[in-house]
Amino acid sequence: MRTNQAELNGATITLPTAADAALSRRSIRQYAPATIPEADLRELLRLAGRAPSAYNVQPWRFVVVQDADLKANLAAAAYGQQQVLRAPATIVLYSDMGSALDRMPEAMHPGMPADKRAAGVDSFRASFANQTVEEREAWGNAQSNIALGYLLLLAESLGYATSPMLGFDPEKVKALLGLPAHVRVTALISIGYPAEEGFDPHRLPADTLVEFR
Ligand SMILES: Cc1cc2nc3c(=O)[nH]c(=O)nc-3n(C[C@H](O)[C@H](O)[C@H](O)COP(=O)(O)O)c2cc1C
Repeated sequence: MRTNQAELNGATITLPTAADAALSRRSIRQYAPATIPEADLRELLRLAGRAPSAYNVQPWRFVVVQDADLKANLAAAAYGQQQVLRAPATIVLYSDMGSALDRMPEAMHPGMPADKRAAGVDSFRASFANQTVEEREAWGNAQSNIALGYLLLLAESLGYATSPMLGFDPEKVKALLGLPAHVRVTALISIGYPAEEGFDPHRLPADTLVEFR
């Protein structure tokens, strides 16, 4: 049954709709010092993982950074962006197609007959055979951006503010976290309880971006 009630922090809350969250969400760069319960972060990332991806490949991976020293180093790798220091957690979202290709048998729908699953895995892996690692990882990064959109909207819906960031040195972030060389860092997302209003969202008029034919 679909419901907009959820258990969070030991309380039952009414979740806003996706439309409500899209209207209220904005980037927040000042945070209250309170930490986020680990259960909330796990639930947020489980739900973000409900994002769809081509072939159901799910190349997104998350590292939740809360340790003070690690956060300081992450902020330095993000050109000193202060929200990384101010937020109780910053999520490093990265894409790992090497891992995703290894896990394709697990990602195939269990309802499919075994021979179709095996054929699906083979054809998916074959489609990357002529690509460079960089091309393959760029493709995976596009999938991981779908999870980024989910994460931002879900955080808002669960009562958390976020600051997505592309302003960082990916090689420094990878070195700091000991990530494999081939992966792509999709975004950093600082998350916490808001301590500012943020800017009123400003967007190009939808009519100027949409055509009906
Ligand atoms: C992928 C992505 C990368 C961004 N990178 C940064 C960043 O490095 N630093 C920053 O302060 N804001 C960053 N932003 C925030 C955008 O500037 C912001 O989302 C946009 O201006 C719209 O404002 P709003 O999020 O408040 O609606 C980023 C946003 C996205 C989605």
